[in-house]
Order: sequence, then C-alpha cells, then structure tokens
Amino acid sequence: MTTLTVRRGPEFSRILGLGVARGERVVPNEELIGPIDSSDEWIRKMTGIATRVRANPETGVIDLAEGAARQAIDNAGIDAQEIDAVLLSTITYPHITPGGAPVLADRLGLTSAAFDISAACAGYCYGIGQADAMVRAGTARNVLVVGAEKMSDWVDPTDRSISYLLGDGAGAVVVGASDTPGIGPTVWGSDGSGAPLIRQTASWTELRDNRDLPFPTLFQEGPSVFKWASFKMGPVALEAVEAAGVTPADIKAFIPHQANVRIIDQMVKQIGLPDTVVVAKDIADSGNTSAASIPLATERLYRDGLVTSGDLALQIGFGAGLVYAAQVVVLP
Ligand SMILES: CC(C)(COP(=O)(O)OP(=O)(O)OC[C@H]1O[C@@H](n2cnc3c(N)ncnc32)[C@H](O)[C@@H]1OP(=O)(O)O)[C@@H](O)C(=O)NCCC(=O)NCCS
Repeated sequence: MTTLTVRRGPEFSRILGLGVARGERVVPNEELIGPIDSSDEWIRKMTGIATRVRANPETGVIDLAEGAARQAIDNAGIDAQEIDAVLLSTITYPHITPGGAPVLADRLGLTSAAFDISAACAGYCYGIGQADAMVRAGTARNVLVVGAEKMSDWVDPTDRSISYLLGDGAGAVVVGASDTPGIGPTVWGSDGSGAPLIRQTASWTELRDNRDLPFPTLFQEGPSVFKWASFKMGPVALEAVEAAGVTPADIKAFIPHQANVRIIDQMVKQIGLPDTVVVAKDIADSGNTSAASIPLATERLYRDGLVTSGDLALQIGFGAGLVYAAQVVVLP
C-alpha cells in the first residue's frame, strides 16, 4: 500500500512576541450610567470597572487587529512572511462572510492560511491551543493569533445587563518553534446548554422576518453567568496547572479573562494561588474586551513591571457558548 508522507514539527512551541492596540477613547462610568439608571459607585463595586476603552467610530475590528499584529510580529523578531497561519478570534467582525482573518492577512501582506475563531471571551486561549498544536504538528512554522473586538458596535446603551461592561481592543501574539516547552496543555471545553445565557438579542433571520425588531445587540443573564464563571472556572484553571506539571506556587502571573473583578478574586481562592502570584486586573481601566482581554492584560503587566520574559503565566478564557480554555504559558 502507498504510504502518505506526513509532516512533523518541532517538539515544543512558545509565544515569541506580543502586541496590543487599545480603543482610542477612555470612557468613564459617568458617561454610561444615565440610560441604565446606574451609578459610578455601583459599577465599581459590582464589577471593578472604573473606565473602559472604546474605539472611534471609524476604527474597525481589523484596524485594531492590524495594529496589534504588526507590533507582535516586530516583537517576535521574525519576518512576516515566516507566518504560515493567521487565526483571528473575534465575535464582532460585522460580516457573516468572508471571515476577518483573510482580510487581516492581506493587510499584513500575507497569503497564508487564515481563519476566524468564534469562541467569544475564550477565543484567545482557543487560538493559543490551536497555534501550539499547528506548530508542533508541522502545519505552520509560525502562527499569528489575534484576539480583536469592537464590542461597542454591539451594545444597546439602555441595556443594563451588559452594555456598560464592554470595551474595544486587540491583542496579538506570534507562536513558533521552541527548544524548551513554552505552552502547556490546553484544557478546554463547552456547555452548550448555557448558550442562552450570553446571546445576540435576535438572530439575523429573525430580524429579516420581522423588521420591527430592534437591531440585535448583546445581552446576558448576569447572575447565572457570574455563578458559572465563579465556581466552574477555578477548577478548569487548576487542571491546566496540573496538566503543565507545575504547582500554583510556580506561577508568576494569573491572567484570566477580564469579566468581573469579583469573578477573578473567586477564581484566585479556588485555585489556591499564593500571594506571590501577580493577578491581572486590567478590567479596571479597559473593561471587558472579550477575546482581546487576556493579551491586553498581559501587556499591562509588562508595562507595570510586574512580569518579565520567561515568567510562567496561567491564562483562562471563558464566555458565551458557554466555552472555556486555559493553559500555562512561558511569557515572551
Ligand atoms: C452583571 C453583574 C455585575 C450584575 O451583578 P449581580 O449582582 O449579578 O446583579 P443582579 O442582576 O443580581 O442585580 C442585583 C441588583 O443590582 C441591580 N442592578 C443590576 N444591574 C444594574 C446596573 N447595571 N446598574 C445598577 N444596578 C443594577 C438590580 O436591579 C438588583 O437590584 P435589587 O437588589 O434592588 O433588585 C454580574 O452578574 C456579573 O458580573 N455577571 C457576569 C458578567 C460576565 O462576566 N459576563 C461576561 C462573561 S464573559
């Protein structure tokens, strides 16, 4: 029988470089509280958010993604042409088709493989898991993973369930070959029975068939999501630590999806992270930027001098689907 040739990649992969782009406008709580009958005090106390960043009307998801991607490629020290795949994690690219990834690749002068990942706030960690596997399987030499969102396009300013939480931005990394392990096993999964908990208010076909419906925006059943994230995600993060063959004491930084400071604090307790671990709380200034929140929070830790290249970081993304993914990575 004829035997197929298969590719094999390097034994290990790692993150080679990080880049970010934030929305241009800093939006304080005061700007949003009127239509939702809320207060600066309530939002700070219940979510930890003081401001969020939002993009100007003329700035699109791909603009944010391109800014972050160019910086990541520069920081990785590779030529863009050495990228064999572009993965764009987003839920806010405003086209059913084509995907945003080929458009982003073209902007970067690439004709590599390119596809979108729709895994909401877990999208970045899904991308890292996928990129790690692609590099080690020899499918791609280097993979550009971008989490980019313009959440502000999809909020109803009168909806007090979610609108005030969301911000815009993008974070990107290049994943490539490594001589030593740089990305631990990805622990991931889903619970589709929770699909209605974070959803678009109406589908496009419902809107087509009933033009009296308001334009679809994001909605969430906050308390149920809060419970799920607070009590189910800690064990997932701990599983990722164990799968990587390390202990919580070996972790330098915990970089969870930035959904709510109270969820983050609850996860820290559940994982049993010692006080020595730096906990990312970029949500205070950036809000919830969905797939972009983990790389944005990572960049913030570097900027604040709290992490350095070679540190171990535990990252976990979770959100609409419901979906989640976690892994321990060596910071670039
Ligand atoms: C959204 C969230 C902050 C709301 O907090 P909560 O404590 O669950 O709020 P509840 O809906 O139970 O409401 C509690 C009280 O606050 C009020 N409230 C709700 N939203 C409010 C708002 N935006 N502003 C002011 N008050 C609000 C309610 O009316 C209620 O008042 P009452 O006690 O007088 O009846 C919280 O549920 C949350 O963070 N959920 C997870 C969000 C998330 O992470 N989503 C993305 C996942 S990727």
